[in-house]
Amino acid sequence: MKKILIAIDGPAGSGKSTTAKLIARKLGYIHLDTGAMYRSVTLKVLESRVNPADEEEVVRLAEEADIVFDNDNGLRVALDGEDVTEKIRSEEVTKNVSLVSSYPGVRKVMVDKQREIGSQKGCVVDGRDIGTVVFPNADLKFFMIADVMERARRRQAELSESGTELPIVKVVHDLKDRDMKDSTRETSPLKKAEDAIEIDTTNLTIEEQVAKILTFVDDLLMMVQEPVVGRRYQEGSVLNRQGKDRK
Ligand code: DC
Repeated sequence: MKKILIAIDGPAGSGKSTTAKLIARKLGYIHLDTGAMYRSVTLKVLESRVNPADEEEVVRLAEEADIVFDNDNGLRVALDGEDVTEKIRSEEVTKNVSLVSSYPGVRKVMVDKQREIGSQKGCVVDGRDIGTVVFPNADLKFFMIADVMERARRRQAELSESGTELPIVKVVHDLKDRDMKDSTRETSPLKKAEDAIEIDTTNLTIEEQVAKILTFVDDLLMMVQEPVVGRRYQEGSVLNRQGKDRK
């Protein structure tokens, strides 16, 4: 069966990583969480006691970082041989990751690695610049959005599960701050690709998000598996609607 590459971009808390993970599991694909890569570099910077504002040193550490994903056990991330899956979600890492990921030298190293992993096809890649920069020729592109209050509630619940309790106003403030930095940086800012399908997840459960994306995936897979003899194409499938009117 033909395998495709699916790009999922969107701001923090829009549900893209969880959705990407479940879609990959369902299809038997690899899940590449590119945010986890930038978080791993940030953790390396903090643990090496390098100032995150020291661009040259940060780029050097990004070049040195050995980041390995284990897709078989619910996506574990190893940095230089150590499992850092939980550590990269800390408040300290979250606070510094936008700065670290804004450096062009860091992005170059990460994007090269992402393209290498994604070249295997059969891959669901989530991040901020996947459909615009990393894989502009992805077979399917999604851009997930959600109301900032809803995103903050999700983030607060996630933090609470890992033992950190924060007031909602602080979580909203931090999310807005990160969104602003991620979407206004010069290199590869967070942006919807023109041909991406936008999905608003504000009122959707994770199961509904996954189901919605899978309808597009199924449509596309049916088209690439079967010769297109007009029928589905004329009825209006993913490809001839350019993803604009199917929500
Ligand atoms: O998806 P996340 O919240 O774990 O991502 C953490 C940060 O990494 C995010 O604030 C910006 C950066 N990032 C990026 O610049 N490009 C990507 N493709 C993915 C994440």
